[in-house]
Amino acid sequence: MEWMGKLLGLDPAFYSGKGHALIQGSASEAVFIVVAAARYRTLKALEERHKADPAEVSQRLVIYASDQCHSCTEKAARILNIRYRALPTDSTCVLRAETVLRAIHDDQRQGLIPIYITSTFGTTPTAAIDDIDGIADICEEHGLWHHVDAAYAGSSLVCPEFRPLAQGYNRADSFSSNMHKWLLVHFDCSLFYTKHREVIKETMSVVPNYQRYREYDEGKVENLSDYQIPMGNRFRALKIWFTVRSYGASGLQRFIRYHIELTALLHHQIAQDDRFEVLNRVDFGLICFRITPAVALSATNQSRAGTVNGHAEDAETALTAANRVNWGLFDHINASGVYLSRGYIGRKFIIRVSIGSFKSDRTSTDLIWDTISRCAREVLDGTVTC
Ligand SMILES: Cc1ncc(COP(=O)(O)O)c(C=O)c1O
Repeated sequence: MEWMGKLLGLDPAFYSGKGHALIQGSASEAVFIVVAAARYRTLKALEERHKADPAEVSQRLVIYASDQCHSCTEKAARILNIRYRALPTDSTCVLRAETVLRAIHDDQRQGLIPIYITSTFGTTPTAAIDDIDGIADICEEHGLWHHVDAAYAGSSLVCPEFRPLAQGYNRADSFSSNMHKWLLVHFDCSLFYTKHREVIKETMSVVPNYQRYREYDEGKVENLSDYQIPMGNRFRALKIWFTVRSYGASGLQRFIRYHIELTALLHHQIAQDDRFEVLNRVDFGLICFRITPAVALSATNQSRAGTVNGHAEDAETALTAANRVNWGLFDHINASGVYLSRGYIGRKFIIRVSIGSFKSDRTSTDLIWDTISRCAREVLDGTVTC
């Protein structure tokens, strides 16, 4: 974990001194643990300082993430019975610091106690990057626990040139990234780092007498179950050890940079073609694209009336046509043996290409592009109906 902390450019405060690093099974478990820790920390402080009743305070806690973040924060809130707010993102799917500040002020006016936020480095739908640095300012000022969820894009941080994109990540209280997503280690291997070892331990530690032994009581050995949900633990560090020893730092960097080059190439091919538009900012290995509404509408009108009706169509009609044609394209591509995923940005249906497998190479990206291009032609000329 220390090797990986160094490779990811993490502040040593995350894995030494009062920090703590542990491989978790999933990013969702990491988020669950830190939300529980944030609650524990607040209840303890209010009880000690103000003799507050934990049961009463519990009902007033609130946590935040963005409307683009992974569902694990909402799930943690639900399991822990804490109020949850999905804060709105801007037109580029980014959570802005001012939005967070406004939510904190609104909630405080209503007597609520904001305790925690997840900011995301590489959101699940579009790989957008929240304003981590701005959010860190607010968390420091208002005492919120700030977790950076870098489940997918965190792997890019092994390359120093990507670290400015995550500016502020070293100011967070905790950080997690899944090596099993994009860094050559197979499932499961979620790197979890926090600067608050003791808070996590006090939150998670339940030591039954059958697990009590002298060395533990004397503080000579760690019990990993003090920092995680399960009691038992797989030897997951071994697969990281083999990966790092086999590839070395430069090999891991080459792997990430190669994928980003392949993605840039594919991005260029899609963006250069007038039939398509790319709807996300492509920093990593994810491209979100669609056939444009104008092209979709034109194809729809041609197939219905045999003429191109380039005007008198409103935005709603164009959106409906684009969503329908792009669903058709998505189904057609996937039936052709190239497997892409889908999603929405707002109400816009998008097709997602992700380059991140150890087998990804120029041959596979060429195949993806040829398939997208051919399937689009067949959907638009009506060879394939949708
Ligand atoms: C940003 C982000 N966070 C969390 C997760 C959840 O990961 P896990 O399956 O490890 O809980 C994902 C999964 O796609 C993700 O993209």
